[in-house]
Amino acid sequence: MSSPIDIDTLPYFNPNIDRRVAIITGGNSGIGFYTVLHLYLHGYIVYIASRSKSRCLKSIKELEYRASQMRLLDNGRSQHQHHQGANGTSTGGEENERSFGEVHYLEMDLSNLQSIVTAVETFKLKERYLHLLINNAGAMALPYSKTIDDFEIQLQTNFISPFLLTLKLLPILERTSDAFPQIEPRPRVIYLSSSGHQFAIRYFNLKTSLDYRPNFVLTWIRYGVAKTAGIHFMKMLALRNPKVLCVSVHPGLVMNTNVFAYWTNLPIVGIIFWCFFQIFAWLFGVTSEQGANEVIRSSLNPYLSVEENNGKYFGLNGKELQPSKVADNMDYAARTWIWTVHELSKRGFITPGA
Ligand SMILES: NC(=O)c1ccc[n+]([C@@H]2O[C@H](COP(=O)([O-])OP(=O)(O)OC[C@H]3O[C@@H](n4cnc5c(N)ncnc54)[C@H](OP(=O)(O)O)[C@@H]3O)[C@@H](O)[C@H]2O)c1
Repeated sequence: MSSPIDIDTLPYFNPNIDRRVAIITGGNSGIGFYTVLHLYLHGYIVYIASRSKSRCLKSIKELEYRASQMRLLDNGRSQHQHHQGANGTSTGGEENERSFGEVHYLEMDLSNLQSIVTAVETFKLKERYLHLLINNAGAMALPYSKTIDDFEIQLQTNFISPFLLTLKLLPILERTSDAFPQIEPRPRVIYLSSSGHQFAIRYFNLKTSLDYRPNFVLTWIRYGVAKTAGIHFMKMLALRNPKVLCVSVHPGLVMNTNVFAYWTNLPIVGIIFWCFFQIFAWLFGVTSEQGANEVIRSSLNPYLSVEENNGKYFGLNGKELQPSKVADNMDYAARTWIWTVHELSKRGFITPGA
């Protein structure tokens, strides 16, 4: 098997010469935190879409500190040979001269559709172009509840809101693609799915609420349904919008992030879940940073092309994975698209180009 791409060899940008802009949802913790860190190190202007200003600003401080520590370490290392590429990009070997990007907070609560519309308007006042959208934020295996938009919480957080956000930002991604036809990596949308999408293998139906007993089992199926719908979304978007590369990513099993917090914080049994997750992590898990590396590979690899890779699903070491039969089924994908557009329009949310 070929070895995975070292993310250090992926393009670095000098934001004073080549301004590359990214939005990532939920970049304040877990996999998202390390994804932002590496985009920042690669010179990206990153907007962290987060529902908590205080958590987000704290994480920005932390990542700026880490980046400066990493630079200090680099400075201590022996000098490498310099290579300067076109358009202000560089590829490895010149750590001391690389520019960091910028990191900004963008207020957004995925459990409130109006907040997405507002965030997109705010973003548009600040930036003309967008090169990368990472739909990272997610919620897993929560008890059944509904958002103020009357969607099940996991479905909205993991799928409906990323759908609305992406379609609202698509005109800007397309404008970026048109304005810079030669740039690599091409503008792209990354969706964090999960191997857990397979839980939906026999129960895929967005119309049913899946609010049945035993709820502690059904909640995993709701997660699977949402993450399957996300894969459908990337496949449909790839078909409909050939200017933008759209891929789904499974980042690996990262057992120490907050996505497991509901289970590990349960009174008494929480400790059992915690032990179970730790053992699982030891056997099969990867770190948050390794998980983020998968996202960075899909985001920055200039060799992923719209022609060959649009709509694909990637896993560990940048390897293409086969999603479940339900996730791979284009009839289901089309139904997912139509149902979502209809449900959003019923609530007064128009999806441009849909
Ligand atoms: N960890 C794994 O093993 C694993 C495996 C496969 C896929 N994934 C996927 O990877 C992604 C990142 O997960 P993670 O493991 O890094 O978990 P995490 O640390 O819990 O990160 C999830 C992020 O989503 C944000 N978020 C949740 N609900 C939100 C809302 N309503 N509005 C705005 N932001 C919201 C969280 O913000 P707050 O800090 O405000 O809560 C947090 O920043 C998720 O989509 C997850 O499904 C994870």
